[in-house]
Amino acid sequence: MGGATALAIAVGVLAAQTTASTAGASQQATSADTVPTAPQALFDYLQAGRYKSFTHESAAHSSSGEHLVTVIAYFNPILHNSMTAGNTAHPRGAAAIIEMLDEDDALTGWAVSVRTHAASLDGKGWFWYEVLSTGDGESPTAANWGVSSCLGCHTSGRDFVLSDYPLR
Ligand code: HEC
Repeated sequence: MGGATALAIAVGVLAAQTTASTAGASQQATSADTVPTAPQALFDYLQAGRYKSFTHESAAHSSSGEHLVTVIAYFNPILHNSMTAGNTAHPRGAAAIIEMLDEDDALTGWAVSVRTHAASLDGKGWFWYEVLSTGDGESPTAANWGVSSCLGCHTSGRDFVLSDYPLR
């Protein structure tokens, strides 16, 4: 890669990072916005907190679904922009992460949904992941497209997304 190209990319990334922290405004993409779907890469991504700059809820709240005790939802810029626009279907690359916390607000794991296909395909166009550990990504409780135990509830969402929006 030439020096000028590298510089242009560096400047672009910097600009995108500045924009990403502005909640509510339209957001540009950074490399951290691409949520991996290979299970170990995804676990490493979650463990490193690479999603922490996403638009997120300001406080943990009790889950109205099956998710453990309390949750904090994070939406990547693609999903944030799509939800803000009121879309009923989200673009490829849209992703949500929830942190699951115990009664002492300690992190116990994550649940993730990533739109990997141009079409939702009844939930098979979304990758679903859940892990009930923060130290070990060996045994996720879900890591696949169209996981039926997730779709049972998520089918009723706005293109499989259930959180109230805007996030509070
Ligand atoms: C019993 C219903 C139910 C099941 C089953 C369920 N969820 Fe959820 N999920 C919810 C609800 C309700 C929300 C909205 C936030 C909240 O209240 O927890 C949610 C939120 C989420 C979010 C944040 C994005 C969004 O849709 O708002 C992700 C990511 C998620 N769930 C992943 C999963 C995965 C992965 C599975 C399967 C392993 C799963 N969920 C199974 C009810 C469910």
